[in-house]
Amino acid sequence: MDAKQILKSLSIEKKLGLLTGYDNFSALKINDEPLIRMADGPNGVKTADGDSLCFPNTCLMASSFDKELCFEIGKMLGIEARRHGVNLLLAPNVNIKRNPLAGRNFESYSEDPFVTGALALEFIKGIKSKKVGACIKHYACNNQEHLRWIQNSVIDDDTLRNVYLKAFEMVINGTDVDFVMTAYNKVNGKQCCENEYLLKTILRDEWGYKGAVVSDWASIGDVVQALKNGLDIEMPCNYELTYPKLYKAYASGELTEQEIDEKLTRLIEFYNGISHDTNFNEEIDEQKLRKFTGESFILLKNDGVLPLKSDEKVLIVGSSAENPRIQGGGCANIKTKTILRATDEIMKQTVNAEYVSDYELCGITASDLKSYDKIVVFLSLDFGSDSEAYDRTDLSFPIQQITAVKKIAKHNPNVIAVLSNGSAVDLSFDKYTKAVLETYYAGSLGAGAIADVLYGKTTPSGKLAETFPLSVSDVPSYNFACGEDVNYAEREFVGYRYYTTYGVKTKYPFGYGLSYCKFNIDNVKIDGSGYDYEVSFDITNNSKYDGKETVQIYLGDESRFAPKKQLIEFITTRVKAGEKKSCKAKIGASSFSRYLNGTKKLLVGKFKIIVATSSEHEIFSKDIELNKDSFAPISRETLIGELMKVDRYREIAKKYLLKAINLWAFGDENSDKNFEDDEFLRNHAYGMPIRGIAYFSLGKLTDETIKQLILELNNA
Ligand code: BGC
Repeated sequence: MDAKQILKSLSIEKKLGLLTGYDNFSALKINDEPLIRMADGPNGVKTADGDSLCFPNTCLMASSFDKELCFEIGKMLGIEARRHGVNLLLAPNVNIKRNPLAGRNFESYSEDPFVTGALALEFIKGIKSKKVGACIKHYACNNQEHLRWIQNSVIDDDTLRNVYLKAFEMVINGTDVDFVMTAYNKVNGKQCCENEYLLKTILRDEWGYKGAVVSDWASIGDVVQALKNGLDIEMPCNYELTYPKLYKAYASGELTEQEIDEKLTRLIEFYNGISHDTNFNEEIDEQKLRKFTGESFILLKNDGVLPLKSDEKVLIVGSSAENPRIQGGGCANIKTKTILRATDEIMKQTVNAEYVSDYELCGITASDLKSYDKIVVFLSLDFGSDSEAYDRTDLSFPIQQITAVKKIAKHNPNVIAVLSNGSAVDLSFDKYTKAVLETYYAGSLGAGAIADVLYGKTTPSGKLAETFPLSVSDVPSYNFACGEDVNYAEREFVGYRYYTTYGVKTKYPFGYGLSYCKFNIDNVKIDGSGYDYEVSFDITNNSKYDGKETVQIYLGDESRFAPKKQLIEFITTRVKAGEKKSCKAKIGASSFSRYLNGTKKLLVGKFKIIVATSSEHEIFSKDIELNKDSFAPISRETLIGELMKVDRYREIAKKYLLKAINLWAFGDENSDKNFEDDEFLRNHAYGMPIRGIAYFSLGKLTDETIKQLILELNNA
């Protein structure tokens, strides 16, 4: 379809009408049929017929820490979309889990932006490999549901960019994203869909985004402002209200035909990039999906009770074994015909299992409980919690489920808890268990995957992509839902970045997860210099189970001004029973750069590269000094302390600045004393920007010499 030709043939009235949806989930009806056909969402293709498969929810997919797996699942969703005639999937959701109570955590990846961006990128590549479009959402800072239509995220620019926008940026850098969906909330006082800073300055001008921008459903306040400030299309259909406003804006010259054409061109070009072949009969490999699901479960605790043996006498407790919660609520919640039940699936693996649905355990005596080798209790959050539109109010499982665990443990210590929830929960009861298996919301085939894991057919290999705190009051954004203005006062100290920096104990840390395998990681090396390193290690699986291990690489920073640890890479590798593998990863400049005052800069100073199996379990680390390269551009605002960290800047800076500093510090521009030897003078001078010292120089440094100095530094 030639966009230019089409636009030439359309009247302005028709064009204006195309800037709003055609109905709830379609748009761009140029002729008979709308050309863009959308569906939610992250864990399945939401259609009216209800014959889609429900996929492991994003929280579970994230626990895989497995890029390949996310690509494969994206591919499967692409197949589902094609099967249902959907050409734009409203997924993934790359918002950061700022607080474990946030309603949509189940459809988000992580508290960490790097793992979010890395996995979402592969997921999108997978969807796109089937020639279906993807839409990342919700741009930006949609980190809670409470008051989401009017809530204002008040956030400083460094935190915004380094934490909350990073995954968007990574994905947009890594592939051709088709659509970005704006969020309901405001950021720094401006509605996201009307936010010129987010939509034009950052998204288009800085990141060079070429795809389209769509509003979240019915989120628009002023449609003309939204379109002027970077939105391309409003969803869903709002023709009656929108068209007159758009016509007026066009007639008054506020909205030009050229602007309208640019927006429609993006939509037409999207349509040109996807498949129109309706003859599609590819099937999903459900066995593979079931395996992926089980592998992503996180074994939080295992005191030798798992896996089960088929000749062990087992009692299964809890109605959620029969009626599982497979997904969170809201738009992501899809209709599905396929829902496996753990009761059926376990019975396929053993003849020695019995089931009681009732958490009250009516009619079951102490000696009955004692008679089982193991007791598997299924715990699940209520169907109402973990949903779009509202947040949870606490971290607990329903009390009767916890009571059941405690009651059973009194008579039989071999309690295994199987958890279904969408985000971190209170696990203080785990002392009454011998094993805890986190399965999150595992989708249509989840119960099959649970049975496979319980009986050792699949090794749980997931890692927590979010911290499980000891208490909700430990969470840095504890008071997140307190009013309309939500102050992101904890800044970049979100999740493990906070707990590790402030030494706050957690129940289970970010990145943590056990396995049936016994992995040995040795020969760890970190080679390189400057801003280029290679991390390598050998991993041996000393067990009879095949499995995966995720080794994490953090940037360590002891400066107190930044999080003590930040994930910069992870390596997830499959290792067969008895196998030994060598792994390596490159760490380059992008891992050592961060935004400061709106500009991406290379870090300078002393850091560590940490190799770990969780944010709290380090296995190796190496001190590095990042000072060989430039952190330009240097300006009048650059701190003298920053310059002094880099040898070659130091020389230049001293040449110009020394006289001024000497004059200021010792009253004598030719003094042979060194101001750096005096703690007060050193700290005082280091804390000043270049312009500051000029004021103290009594005319030794003029505007001209400062310009000269800055030029020389930037050319160094
Ligand atoms: C949600 C979006 C979703 C859209 C369409 C909104 O309420 O926030 O994530 O894609 O509805 O269902």
